[in-house]
Amino acid sequence: MENQFGIRECLNNHPIVPVVNIASISQVAGTLAALESKNIRCIEITLRSGCAREAIEKAIVIKPKGFSVGVGTVVTPAQVDWCKELGVDFMVSPGVSNDLADAFEASEIPFIGGVMTPSEIITGMSRGWDTFKLFPFNIAGGTTALNSYAAVFSNVQFCPTGGIGVHNYEEVLALPNVISVGGSWVLKD
Ligand code: 3PG
Repeated sequence: MENQFGIRECLNNHPIVPVVNIASISQVAGTLAALESKNIRCIEITLRSGCAREAIEKAIVIKPKGFSVGVGTVVTPAQVDWCKELGVDFMVSPGVSNDLADAFEASEIPFIGGVMTPSEIITGMSRGWDTFKLFPFNIAGGTTALNSYAAVFSNVQFCPTGGIGVHNYEEVLALPNVISVGGSWVLKD
């Protein structure tokens, strides 16, 4: 079932999703170049800074071919509408409300919503979703939770985020129900 507009293909292409808060518009070009130098060809720019929207607009304009610019910390339908107008490559939310879910499904942009619990996963599945952000990974139960979810939700894939770092990203990425991992460590280490 494909109700998330190709999010699996997007994340399959990008096993590591750097979560980046841009503090100044002058950082955008250097940040994309730093990621490319690490052979990472995507970015999730969070809507958490005063210049976030301007930074995302700039990243969309200057991104190299094949580079995906996503928007993170999407929490309102109005933000989804803005992402659609801009034509971003993917959207990520830390959690989901009914209104936000409706906006995602109307957007035609690949997206993942955040979940922590079985009930949240089932709620997403009832909409035909099969791919989620597991957030915060370290509080949700880490690899123990992922292994439990693999047994129960055999068709579901996760992008764990929150507490992923250089110490554990390879172990997490190797799990069969992990499609990609996200986090801020990428440009910190
Ligand atoms: C996110 O926005 O996905 C998380 O805040 C990233 O968490 P991290 O800083 O632990 O990687």
